[in-house]
Amino acid sequence: MPSFDLIVIGAGPGGYVCAIRAAQLGLKVAVVEGRETLGGTCLNVGCIPSKALLHASHALYEATETFAKMGLIGPAPSVDWEKMRVYKDDVIAQNTKGIEFLFKKNKITWLKGWAHIPAAGQVQIGDAIHSATNIVIATGSESATLPGITIDETTVVTSTGALSLGKIPENMVVIGGGVIGLELGSVYARLGSQVTVVEYLDGLIPGNDAEIAKAFEKILKKQGLTIITGAAVQKVAQSGAKAEVIYTLRKDDSTHSLPADVVLVATGRRPYTTGLGLDTLGVTLTPRGQIATNAHYATNIPGLYAIGDAIPGPMLAHKAEDEGMAVAEIIAGRAGHVNYAVIPGVIYTHPEVASVGQTEESLKEQSHPYKVGRFSFMGNGRAKANFAADGFVKILADAKTDRILGAHIIGPSAGDLIHEICVAMEFGAAAEDLARTCHAHPTYSEAVREAALACGDGPIHA
Ligand code: NAI
Repeated sequence: MPSFDLIVIGAGPGGYVCAIRAAQLGLKVAVVEGRETLGGTCLNVGCIPSKALLHASHALYEATETFAKMGLIGPAPSVDWEKMRVYKDDVIAQNTKGIEFLFKKNKITWLKGWAHIPAAGQVQIGDAIHSATNIVIATGSESATLPGITIDETTVVTSTGALSLGKIPENMVVIGGGVIGLELGSVYARLGSQVTVVEYLDGLIPGNDAEIAKAFEKILKKQGLTIITGAAVQKVAQSGAKAEVIYTLRKDDSTHSLPADVVLVATGRRPYTTGLGLDTLGVTLTPRGQIATNAHYATNIPGLYAIGDAIPGPMLAHKAEDEGMAVAEIIAGRAGHVNYAVIPGVIYTHPEVASVGQTEESLKEQSHPYKVGRFSFMGNGRAKANFAADGFVKILADAKTDRILGAHIIGPSAGDLIHEICVAMEFGAAAEDLARTCHAHPTYSEAVREAALACGDGPIHA
């Protein structure tokens, strides 16, 4: 008799959600986690701590930039970096302890240590071997660095080191104009660092709608970030506590260098499967080193499943969570499913950037006839009152049927606003369905409705 119905390896958002759902469905569940705390990268060194720093640094921005305009007069606050880090660590602790509580509540066993899979149906931790009818690999990802760059997590850092710097750097160079680079780059820019982002491609946030990416770049420049695009970083030379980033411009192959107190390497992530023994076990991988699975998250080894950043698809906590729930349901004999056409993506800068579904570029590529409805937050009363009128909502709908195909928002609370469009898309809604839905006034969400109106007879406030 195996000791567990299910052993989940990894307690990040994919793994812990999978474990909780499986326990709710009546399975006897254990989770293997080697960190001191549950929650994986997201809660310990990713989503949650970065959001704490984004919140604190935005509060500083509000105090220095908008308070006086609203008649709130007083000395601007100064930054106590150590206290800010304590606040961030406290937020992490509250969240990771919350998962521990949920494990106890759902009678999930936490097997502490790093897992190895010696054979199908077995999980080894140190000398102990546990057996399980099903195993789910939810081991997530790690930062992928570049050749010619040595990470020391002090001067040359990944996102992990960037969340715990000893002091706020005077000069920070960010390699990679993707999500991590821009979220953390904007934190340090607001805390007073001179931030330069060096991006290989000709624009930021590749894969996003190009019109949004351009508007985002303009706003970030206005906020004081220096952005160099079309630049391939070759290496980082380090001497003591200083570094120099050497890059070549793709347009003319000229070589340049930038001095930095801290270099943040944010050039993507790769699956983390070290120590699992996938090779010996004969687990099939994709050419990019991800674990290959079928539509039910099953690998080629019976009883072995994989989800989250370790398998193909967007590396997002909520994608992993949804896959965690789906695979638990499948293992319990139900019909788990994830709709990959409706997975929102959010960049938690100020303003936020959020997207779901097709971009204008992807529709053009497919020669899919579409129409666009846009609405600027300039025409939204609430945004004006809140100094948040930078940005716009863009809805893409089928030219004939009016069905919503995608949406892209740059602006206040974009990460929350996107979800009414996600729900609409799940129900196969037309832009007109959104346009005919009463939206409370004054709210940011009126901008979404106006963009939907713009897909039809036109918005009211533009
Ligand atoms: P990313 O893939 O978003 O961006 C990496 C950027 O680095 C790309 O724009 C790429 O062109 C650039 N790059 C690569 N090599 C370069 C070179 N030699 N010189 C200059 N630029 C170069 O990766 P990122 O930002 O590291 O994030 C990793 C993963 O974590 C992503 O999948 C992201 O979606 C996820 N994540 C999501 C968050 C969110 O949803 N808010 C927050 C943080 C991470």
